[in-house]
Amino acid sequence: MRLASGYKAFSETAHKNYPDQLTPEGNLGWAIALSSVVNADRSDRFARPSARGWTSSLHPKIFPNRSTKVGVLALTYKGLMNVKTPFDLALYTRLIWELQPRTILELGSLQGGSGLWFADHLSVLCEKPGEVHSFDLNSKCIHENAKHPLLTFHQVDLSDVANFDENLLKRLPHPWLVIDDAHVQIFSIFSYLNHFLASGDYYVIEDNPMNADKEIIDGLQLVEQSGFLIDTYYTDAFGSNLTCAPNAWLRKS
Ligand SMILES: C[S@@+](CC[C@H](N)C(=O)[O-])C[C@H]1O[C@@H](n2cnc3c(N)ncnc32)[C@H](O)[C@@H]1O
Repeated sequence: MRLASGYKAFSETAHKNYPDQLTPEGNLGWAIALSSVVNADRSDRFARPSARGWTSSLHPKIFPNRSTKVGVLALTYKGLMNVKTPFDLALYTRLIWELQPRTILELGSLQGGSGLWFADHLSVLCEKPGEVHSFDLNSKCIHENAKHPLLTFHQVDLSDVANFDENLLKRLPHPWLVIDDAHVQIFSIFSYLNHFLASGDYYVIEDNPMNADKEIIDGLQLVEQSGFLIDTYYTDAFGSNLTCAPNAWLRKS
C-alpha cells in the first residue's frame, strides 16, 4: 500500500533547497503549514471500532439549503447517477491510488454510474490492470452507457449470500476494495465476503452507519473481532466522519 508522502517529500525538498521561503513571509510557508495539518501518515491512523465515537459531520442539517443537499448527495458522472458526495469521491480517488486495488466489488449498481466511475478511476490510477464487479438485483436499471472494458455487472439478490458466485470470488486478484452500497444484510454479507478477503483489503460500508443504531454498533463489533481497523484518514479527512461511511472505511489487518 502506498502512503501519501507527497507533502513530506515537498517539505524535505523545500527545507533543503529554499529555507528562505519557509518563513511566514516566504512564498512556500503556507504549503509547509498544510503538510503538518494533513499528516495522513501519522502512526495512530488506524483505530479499533470500539475506540471511536459516533459524531458525524455529515448530518443533513449541515447543508445550508436544499439545492446544496441535492447537489452533494446526487451527483452524476458522464450523465449517469452517481450517488456519492464530493467528499467521498475525493476519498475514493485517493484510496484507489493508495491501495492500487486489483479488484473492486460494488454492491448496489443502481444505474451503473458509480461502477463506471470506479472503472475509469481504476484504469487511470492503478499500475496493474484491475476489474470492477458490480452487483444488483435490479440490473435492468443499468444504463446502456455504463460500459467499460474493466466493468462487469451481475444480477444477484444480495439478501442471500448463497447467490454470490464463489468461483468468481476465489479467482479475483487482491488487493480488493469492497463497497457495500446496497443496504441489505450488510453484516451477513460482510461475514461471507470476509472469507475471501486478504490482509490489507478495504471494505467500505456506505450510508447505513450514518444511523449508528444497535445493528451498526453490534455489527462493527463483529468487524473488530474479524480483525478490521477503521482507517481514520478516510473517515476524518474533511472533519470527523464527514463521509457517507462514518466509522466504516475498514482495513483488514
Ligand atoms: C443506493 S443504491 C446504489 C447506488 C450506487 N452505488 C451509486 O453510488 O450510484 C442501492 C442499490 O441497491 C440495490 N438493491 C436493493 N436491494 C437489493 C438486493 N436485495 N439485492 C441486490 N441489490 C439490491 C438497489 O436496486 C439499488 O440499485
